[in-house]
Amino acid sequence: MYKALYRKYRPMTFDDVVSQPHITTTLRNQLINGKTAHAYLFTGSRGTGKTTCARILAKALNCLHPVDGNPCLECEICRDADENALADIIEIDAASNNGVDDVRDLRDGAVYTAERCKYKVYIIDEVHMLSKEAFNALLKIMEEPPPHVKFILATTEIHKVLPTILSRCQRYDFRRILPQDITERLMYVAGQENINLDRDAAELIAKTADGGMRDALSLLDQCIAFSENVTLDIVSGAAGIAGREPVFDILEAIADRDAARAMGVIDKLYGMSKDMQKLCEELIAQFRNVMMAKAVPENAELLVCMPSEIQRIKALADRLSQDEIMGILDTLQRSNERIARVSAKRVEMEMCLLKLCNSRQTAESGAANAELLAKIDMLEKRLAAQPVQPVQQAAYAPVQRPDPKPRYAPKQQNEAADVSKLKPEDFTEETRWQDILEKFAEICPSVSGALNGSRAVKGGGYMLIYTESSFFMNLLRNKENAEKLKEAIRIVTGESYVIKAKCTAPQNGGGSDKLQSVLDKARENNIPVE
Ligand SMILES: Nc1ncnc2c1ncn2[C@@H]1O[C@H](COP(=O)(O)OP(=O)(O)OP(=O)(O)O)[C@@H](O)[C@H]1O
Ligand SMILES: [Mg+2]
Ligand SMILES: [Zn+2]
Repeated sequence: MYKALYRKYRPMTFDDVVSQPHITTTLRNQLINGKTAHAYLFTGSRGTGKTTCARILAKALNCLHPVDGNPCLECEICRDADENALADIIEIDAASNNGVDDVRDLRDGAVYTAERCKYKVYIIDEVHMLSKEAFNALLKIMEEPPPHVKFILATTEIHKVLPTILSRCQRYDFRRILPQDITERLMYVAGQENINLDRDAAELIAKTADGGMRDALSLLDQCIAFSENVTLDIVSGAAGIAGREPVFDILEAIADRDAARAMGVIDKLYGMSKDMQKLCEELIAQFRNVMMAKAVPENAELLVCMPSEIQRIKALADRLSQDEIMGILDTLQRSNERIARVSAKRVEMEMCLLKLCNSRQTAESGAANAELLAKIDMLEKRLAAQPVQPVQQAAYAPVQRPDPKPRYAPKQQNEAADVSKLKPEDFTEETRWQDILEKFAEICPSVSGALNGSRAVKGGGYMLIYTESSFFMNLLRNKENAEKLKEAIRIVTGESYVIKAKCTAPQNGGGSDKLQSVLDKARENNIPVE
């Protein structure tokens, strides 16, 4: 029967455990000096060696001929423990047995001395899953543990463990396993299995596994199912991440502000069933590299990438400012959080990239905007203190407005929306806007995302769209896009309309328009402004 690699290569001694020397050395020293604790708590992220170390420790405590704090693996105790045939080492998986009864059994059993071993060892895995009652029962025993009983608790979620339990345990924090340690282990396993594993492929697996050895070995397993020659391409296919070329294409398109190219790459990747969330994570990982290359150019070890990629990363770092890089990363991170929640992952990814290629929000411009807004606020307060002056009315005000306009609305700003000749009563009818949007998403998926949160009214042969996205206003100037939108409307309503659009949000940089209008107002009112 095939045994998964991560099981087959579970370390048997502390010396086999990688990347956790602070833990394995301490435990070995305790064992050598006979100064072990009553209760241990192992915590840390998935697949870092908690259960593995718990089992090694349980064996080492009872081994008849321990070697340097390691279990000998040869005595009858070690052998039976490996066969799961030792009544004195008891593993409880709280994830499946979370009832009080199991802990009660444990409590009753704990009073009896060990059958064959020096210690009765209880390994309670995923201890945070125990019910409250079970926790309390466990606490009872741990308050006055019989001298022949040891507890090893393991959890990924330390914050869910009661403080009363924590305070009775010696705590060990397992680190994420270093990428180079994972790579070495993968190369070792591949060697044992007579598998040809390219080093850059192993490095990519290590990176994808994010510090978890189990995930790394599972991914290697999947790759081996494809081929006995595990290359970068195979890993990238098995992990569902985009091959490296497209990722760099997208990064460079962002630097070039070339939205069309970015959309082209997404379209291609989507067609190849690439996972959009993974792609987003990969973009973040690569942009982190760009950030590192910018911040500490002399320190190439900080880059988690393949040697062949360093040149391209450095070129990107040279082209972008530190602030731009931070701004891009910030936008990517936010989209990554959203992508996890929405079902239309592609649209989210596209919106994010369009944002990055077009109105790039940098930390710098963000700060500048904040300054502008503060000034506006100050001036508005001073204006509010002035006696009311008749304000010149706009020629027309839309009847239904999804968002309140700024109090001092600038004059008509966008050419795409020449709605000034239309009267308010022209737009009273509701549209089937949601249905239209859905249809539009089918016909023109790359643009439809820009219409998120929009609404529309119709009348007199016109359809008026209120959108928060100035970007959509640009897209609509493109004849092809406008035609597709018209078609979506035609399909849903069975009628043709002239499309008009109106931007409702203060835009990036719109701060200065707003400032201008407030400044004008202030001057009209004789408020001194510098
Ligand atoms: N530090 C390590 N050194 C070598 N191999 C490891 C290490 N940590 C984990 N592994 C590999 O991953 C597998 C799973 O490890 P283990 O069960 O100890 O993880 P865990 O920390 O208990 O994870 P979980 O929180 O998911 O239970 C092991 O069988 C082994 O193959
Ligand atoms: Mg475990
Ligand atoms: Zn032994």
